[in-house]
Amino acid sequence: MTRTARAYTNIALIKYWGKKNKQLKLPYTNSLSLTLDRFYTDTKATIIDSDKDVVYLNNQLLDDTQNKRILNYLETIRNFYSFTDHFQIDTVNHVPTSAGFASSASGFAALAAAINETKQLDLSRQELSILARNGSGSASRSIYGGFVEWQAGHDNESSFAVPIDETPEIDLALLSVVINKHSKKISSTMGMENSVKSSPFYPNWVTLVSSEIKEIKQAIAQKDLQKIGEISEHNAMSMHALTLSADPSFTYFAPETIRIIQLIQELRRKGLFAYATIDAGPNVKIICTKESLPKVQTYIEQQLSDVTTVVANIGPGIQYI
Ligand code: DP6
Repeated sequence: MTRTARAYTNIALIKYWGKKNKQLKLPYTNSLSLTLDRFYTDTKATIIDSDKDVVYLNNQLLDDTQNKRILNYLETIRNFYSFTDHFQIDTVNHVPTSAGFASSASGFAALAAAINETKQLDLSRQELSILARNGSGSASRSIYGGFVEWQAGHDNESSFAVPIDETPEIDLALLSVVINKHSKKISSTMGMENSVKSSPFYPNWVTLVSSEIKEIKQAIAQKDLQKIGEISEHNAMSMHALTLSADPSFTYFAPETIRIIQLIQELRRKGLFAYATIDAGPNVKIICTKESLPKVQTYIEQQLSDVTTVVANIGPGIQYI
């Protein structure tokens, strides 16, 4: 049996930042994202006659150390669904590092979906979201297209994403600004753990997210673009304030990150629609309208020499190919 699934990456407008259960990846708060059309992962799962899983990433065989997270995940799936089969996994990431997105969201969503099909587990999208979450929290949201909310829940069965609007007719696009030179990365897993443990503001974050989720859902329903932009930017900056206020303090920002934030503020003063969101890295994603995007892109490229920009639009949920 062989099946291939495709999952698209997503950008969180209200961020997931902190787990109350590390093993199950149960978050402290809900989060809300937009699935994107440009970046995706294709994963083929084949049942093999072996007592070991084999994983190829972009046509290269991974060794057991590179592979640990995926091997552990496959073991989790076997335990969940009480079967013993092993797999050959062939994953091709169309999420170039140069695009400034992490591949774990699309990667674990595609893997969960590929196993679901290959093993004919017949999972609902809700069950698939739960399964993807066990690989990487943000993957729970990549099951659906458009605007998606991950409901925190309180145990494995109650923590999953739900679609808010899978094909929104809304004039939004995303410009990813990638800083070409940057230093070593602190994983989001580590970063959120440190923030929860030591930022004195963490309890405020939990309260803030609960009100911002309500506000942004209302803004989405009303297609209030400015509100969506304002809330998203405020939420991202608040997440990064948790890293700065952790002990020891750390930050994902590079000098260019701050420069881009300032340029976005300048663009707004000029009357253009542009709002920043930033994940666990130095790159800035600019929320634009289709009209403002080319102007924002030109301005950013004029002002900064060592950046690459990539445009993404709203994308779909899981597909089988
Ligand atoms: C900043 O989903 O990569 O992108 O669950 O530990 O795998 P793990 O973390 P991950 O964290 C994503 C963090 C974020 C915000 C978000 O996507 O909501």
